Amino acid sequence: MKVGIFYSFNTGKTRSVGERILKEFGSSAESIDIEDVGVSKFFEYDLIIIGASTWYDGKLPDYWDDILPDLENADFKNTNVAIFGLGNQQAYPDYFGDSIFALAEVLEPLGAKLLGFTSTDGYTFNASKSVRDGKFMGLLIDEESQPELTKERISNWVKQLKKSL
Ligand SMILES: Cc1cc2nc3c(=O)[nH]c(=O)nc-3n(C[C@H](O)[C@H](O)[C@H](O)COP(=O)(O)O)c2cc1C
Repeated sequence: MKVGIFYSFNTGKTRSVGERILKEFGSSAESIDIEDVGVSKFFEYDLIIIGASTWYDGKLPDYWDDILPDLENADFKNTNVAIFGLGNQQAYPDYFGDSIFALAEVLEPLGAKLLGFTSTDGYTFNASKSVRDGKFMGLLIDEESQPELTKERISNWVKQLKKSL
C-alpha cells in the first residue's frame, strides 16, 4: 500500500502534524509538498492523505487559492482519501476545524471515497461543518487547546486507516 501525505511544507503546525503522520505510517508513506506538485501526483498512491489548517472563520489558508482550481479539474473516482485538519476549539468554537469540510466538499463530488472519520468525543466546541452523522470527516488536531492529545489521536487514526484499506 502506497500512502501519499499532501500538505504545504511552508506551514507551521500543519507541516508538523503531517510529519508525525508520516512517521507513524513508516516506510509505506511519503510526504509531498502540495504547493509544489501537479494534480497527477495524487494518483500515484493507494491512499491519499490531505491536510490543512482552518483560517478566517472556517476557510482554508490563502495558499489553497492556487491549489483548489487544479483539484477541481481532477477525477478522484476510485480513490481513497483521508483528510486531516487543524483548528483551535477555544478561540474558534463556532467554526472548529472547518478545513476538513472545506476539502471534503471539493473532493467528494469529484468521486473521492473519504476514509478515517473520527469521534467528536473529547473536544468542546459549538459548531463545526466538519461533523457528519456525529463524526468528524477526518482527523481534527488542535495544537493550541489540546496538544497533549495529538500523539494518541494520530496514532489511533493511522491504525484505523491501515485497517480500513
Ligand atoms: C487568522 C486565523 C484564523 C483562524 N481561524 C480558525 C477557524 O475559523 N477555526 C478553527 O478551528 N481554527 C482557526 N484558526 C486556528 C488555526 O487553525 C490553528 O492555529 C492551526 O494550528 C494553524 O496551523 P498552521 O500553522 O499550519 O496554519 C485560525 C488561526 C488564525 C491565525
